[in-house]
Amino acid sequence: MDRPGFVRRSWPITLEAGPIRLRPLRLRDGRAWRSVRTANAAWLAPWEATPPVPSEPAPRFGQMVRRFSQEARAGRMLPFVIDYQGRLAGQINVAGITWGSLRSASIGYWVDQDLAGRGIVPTAVALVSDYCFFEVGLHRVELNIRPENQPSLRVAHKLGFRPEGIRKRFLHIDGDWRDHASFALNREEVPGGLLARWVSVSADLSPGLGLTSPAATKGAPQQSHQSQKGSAATHR
Ligand SMILES: CC(C)(COP(=O)(O)OP(=O)(O)OC[C@H]1O[C@@H](n2cnc3c(N)ncnc32)[C@H](O)[C@@H]1OP(=O)(O)O)[C@@H](O)C(=O)NCCC(=O)NCCS
Repeated sequence: MDRPGFVRRSWPITLEAGPIRLRPLRLRDGRAWRSVRTANAAWLAPWEATPPVPSEPAPRFGQMVRRFSQEARAGRMLPFVIDYQGRLAGQINVAGITWGSLRSASIGYWVDQDLAGRGIVPTAVALVSDYCFFEVGLHRVELNIRPENQPSLRVAHKLGFRPEGIRKRFLHIDGDWRDHASFALNREEVPGGLLARWVSVSADLSPGLGLTSPAATKGAPQQSHQSQKGSAATHR
């Protein structure tokens, strides 16, 4: 199977590590999603993409779910909800999947402020990075972070992403074009998988997660990822 075809045909998928489960956003998530987004409006506003043309209306929830599904089925995006202990805790998107001689994508994320500081997002980034490297066949993943966003810079740092410098006025965030610090990892920099590397340090950095050993974790490349088509868990 060609690689873009792999993304198209393997969606929807579910990835898991300990209490963290990444899965597609569903129409029936509407109420929970709106509730967590409303409660977190001020927490998210400084870091969220905004339309460069102010008159562009923000997509409604149903439109967003349909667009995510279309993008995933087109092989351009892997849009996940982050569930933590069964609760809708945030989102993580692998976007801009590019093939040819680049084989790269960028990862964006947020988590409910009530659940911040537990290592949820680093674990989610490790899970999707391994999936991109070892299943999808990408060579590179990147994070783009406003230099003012200390918590997100910590995520990049704790996972060992390599700093690549500043991109001037790179993304339209919170109403203007904002500089971003770029961080990247290439597949050969994590031959044993990013999740296994994160698990080996997370006992000290995020002890509450309970990711004590790779053996306890679904998702490390040596363990394989859980993939789900409809309700059938396969792809082991
Ligand atoms: C950035 C973000 C995704 C980090 O997610 P997370 O799951 O909390 O990540 P971690 O648990 O590894 O915590 C990262 C850092 O957040 C800070 N932090 C810890 N607890 C926190 C809390 N209760 N509130 C705010 N920040 C906290 C700490 O600096 C921590 O680093 P440390 O582990 O070295 O102490 C999250 O803060 C968030 O969603 N922020 C708003 C949206 C956003 O910035 N998205 C990213 C845009 S690039």
